[in-house]
Amino acid sequence: MKGIILAGGRGSRLYPLTPSLSKQLLPVYDKPMIYYPLSTLMLAGIKEILIISTPEHIDIYKKMLGDGDWLGLSLQYKVQDKPRGLADAFIVGEEFIDGDKVALILGDNVFYGHGFSQVLQESAKMEEGAIVFGYYVQNPSEFGVVEVDDEGYVISLEEKPKEPKSSFAVPGLYFYDEDVVNIAKTLTPSARGEIEITDVNLEYMRRKQLRVSMLGRGFAWLDTGTCDGLNEASNFVRTIQKRQGLYVACIEEIAMTMGFIDGSGVLDAISEGKSTDYYHYVKNIVERAHERKPGL
Ligand code: TTP
Repeated sequence: MKGIILAGGRGSRLYPLTPSLSKQLLPVYDKPMIYYPLSTLMLAGIKEILIISTPEHIDIYKKMLGDGDWLGLSLQYKVQDKPRGLADAFIVGEEFIDGDKVALILGDNVFYGHGFSQVLQESAKMEEGAIVFGYYVQNPSEFGVVEVDDEGYVISLEEKPKEPKSSFAVPGLYFYDEDVVNIAKTLTPSARGEIEITDVNLEYMRRKQLRVSMLGRGFAWLDTGTCDGLNEASNFVRTIQKRQGLYVACIEEIAMTMGFIDGSGVLDAISEGKSTDYYHYVKNIVERAHERKPGL
């Protein structure tokens, strides 16, 4: 399975921070926002990843993350010249996907919770159809909302419904089989001029192939697309990191935990940050790799 991070868009809800700055490069506490969706794909065991961004910003991502070799990843980059919608990821990414299965994550979605790696790795083993996630929210009318049957298949999916049929919102993380590119190509733009991910999901629902994996109570799904959301995500990450001394979305740690790298070259790769807590955290992990406890 391959992975795509959508890191373009208008970012209009963060004006005046954007558009001169790319939203997914803004800090969520102590790291660029894109580290969070990148870490989610890595935890799923996905090593071949395409980063899609705007013509203005794509080079900054290339400079920041390079070819990914230092993390045991293969990173590629592609420009989306206009924000044509989330489903456009599969058209822009067609060559990269190259007939494989693919996971899509939105560059402004932060996930955190116990057992998430297992959920991700199971989803990545999917044989056919599609998997989305269900997350209980207080204000379902503001999201895509799913209704699910007893076997976990979606029976209705509505975008921002006035009268939601459930309290389960669909976060910005999706797993698809090889058909997704062809499905994306058949879509026509919605009233807001975008090709919608909901329409991709509705097609899988019509095929009775859209499953939902529920993210349970206590699980964090944060959308960093507004100033309040950004601030709340930063505070959340800071609280967890200070309390546990364990970092959220430290990509070097995840690369080692997942066995993508042995850690020998990683300190050289981040040596510019020698004065930071981040560097010392990674250094400590490299030095104590043999003491790692399962589940951390
Ligand atoms: P959104 O938050 O829906 O849109 P946006 O980032 O343009 O922000 P705003 O609503 O404030 O104008 O996008 C979700 C994510 O997907 C975000 O990380 C940007 C990215 N995106 C693209 O890369 N290309 C697109 O065509 C769209 C619509 C979004």
